[in-house]
Amino acid sequence: MRISRRTIDEVRQAADVVEAASEFTALRRQGARFVGLCPYPDHQEKTPSFSVSPDLGLYYCFGCQRGGDAIKLVQDLRSTTFAEAVQYLAEKNGLRIEYESSSPEEAERARRAESRRRRIYRALAAAAVYYHKFLTHSRAAEGARRYLAERGISQSTIGEFRLGYAPEGGREAFVRAMRKVRVGEEELGLAGLLSRRGRERFAGRITFPISDRRGRVVGFGARVVGEGMPKYLNTPETEVFNKRNLLYGLPQAAGAMRRERSAVVVEGYTDVLMLHQGGVENVVATLGTAMTEAHLRTLSAHADTIYLLFDPDAAGEKAVERVTAAAARFRLDVRVMKLEEDPADWVLSHPASELSSMLSGAVPVMEYGIRRIAGRYMGADAASRSRALPEVRAMIRGLHDPVLRREAVRIASEALGVPARLLQERSVGDVPVRGYDRPSPDDPHLQAGREVLALMLTRPDLTGPLLRQGVDSPVLPEPFFLRQEDFSDREQAEIFSILGDHAGESLDGVLTDERLRSRMDAVGELASYGERLYPTRESVREAWLRLGVLSCRRRKRETTDYDLKAKLHARARLLERAMRDVPAVP
Ligand code: UTP
Ligand code: MN
Repeated sequence: MRISRRTIDEVRQAADVVEAASEFTALRRQGARFVGLCPYPDHQEKTPSFSVSPDLGLYYCFGCQRGGDAIKLVQDLRSTTFAEAVQYLAEKNGLRIEYESSSPEEAERARRAESRRRRIYRALAAAAVYYHKFLTHSRAAEGARRYLAERGISQSTIGEFRLGYAPEGGREAFVRAMRKVRVGEEELGLAGLLSRRGRERFAGRITFPISDRRGRVVGFGARVVGEGMPKYLNTPETEVFNKRNLLYGLPQAAGAMRRERSAVVVEGYTDVLMLHQGGVENVVATLGTAMTEAHLRTLSAHADTIYLLFDPDAAGEKAVERVTAAAARFRLDVRVMKLEEDPADWVLSHPASELSSMLSGAVPVMEYGIRRIAGRYMGADAASRSRALPEVRAMIRGLHDPVLRREAVRIASEALGVPARLLQERSVGDVPVRGYDRPSPDDPHLQAGREVLALMLTRPDLTGPLLRQGVDSPVLPEPFFLRQEDFSDREQAEIFSILGDHAGESLDGVLTDERLRSRMDAVGELASYGERLYPTRESVREAWLRLGVLSCRRRKRETTDYDLKAKLHARARLLERAMRDVPAVP
């Protein structure tokens, strides 16, 4: 019996490739990824060339050139079949396995769920546009605009974060406007845009679109204009909206996080807006919930240091102990600071640049946690203080990194005034690590193909439109499409054709294609390369055209037909002009 695609999908989403690999080799954080000695038994090495990307869920060894996802890793290192590897990971992650042949209805249901999710995304995207237009253009949004201005939120922030306003009492107009863009009431309901009684959920509120890490709108926070209860309404749990792993402002912050290798996490939407506006761009917020492990995992793909800024009333503090263990697991340096006022208020009377010097005083989360436990027993005599011990020991036990653990013991013994041996457990040795970067192939045509594929894997949002609609340019008589023949390498051409069938789909969707399973090594390499590219819409377009140019030139060299030579020459020139002729972005 075949395991259903949905199960494979679920396993892939749930399986943590860092965790899977950590069973076989010691990994260490390095930038956005983890590195360590290659765990493949036939590849003995002294300096680490094995690299894992938690963000993409893929690994690659620069030494033995093997790579893939968590399933492939288990398959290779436990010498199992594909199905056994899926079973193993499903069990570890508490997932039930469904089989394809067990019910065609099941497969049908999965297909319907997928199509429903797509419709939900469309509805949310349309609503975000509608609300934003309403806020920026409608007379009825005058009050909302004034309120935002009074709070000090600028036009460009409103634009960048696509803030909006949901018109009051306007269910009919809303539904009508949505119908015009082919979004029906059913979708609006599934997307959480209508209340249970069928009213427009956010009517009369300022809307803050919330996006997932791929930049798709998945829901909204919506604030009353001025005073009122409840202050915020959020999208309820839907098929695409789960507060526990979303971070407000992530797409806007990702670039700065990667540049600075650090992230600032605040508690409120407005804090994100005001700090961002003040120049602190690596800032995100949880959605009214405490920090979860999923949040940290997401952040670990962008940053090494995380600053948690707690509001004075600090609901977030509850998460400190959980965060300490998770931070160690993801090798993140998490630091905590408790503020005297909300960041959005603080920036009104301070330059935002002052924040960075304040952040240097933030306390490592472990220390913060230990001191908090110790604080509860403060002033007590030695005997009562020792009652804090089990709590502290439990926290220390959660730390698997020997260095962190020693550090925790030191801090706790100091804070509690008890000898270290009462807290200690033995520690394990560690492996030193060195960086590794694979040089690009020196054949420019091969390199251009590699770049296009890496982009297709890691940035389907940018490459999807080019695959579907081609590259447009005023100098081209018709849009330019890449074809398999444009690649100089057979494997590249094959991968292109497979990825092309999944244009615009996220990596997770692409990787379930069986035809890719036998090419996982190459996929791992391409993805690890793609992760180091920081593409823009323009640079992706350029990569497309560059491959087109090189392909024309090669075919021109290879043909003996002079007419064709001339045609290819002209075409290459045209594509080169299109490369220089970057269209204005609307
Ligand atoms: P705050 O009350 O601090 O809100 O709640 P804020 O974002 O700073 O807003 P302003 O500055 O008063 O306008 C922090 C976060 O808690 C969640 C929201 O995610 C909010 O950003 N929250 C708060 C809700 O979901 N519902 C509420 O009613 C209040
Ligand atoms: Mn606040």
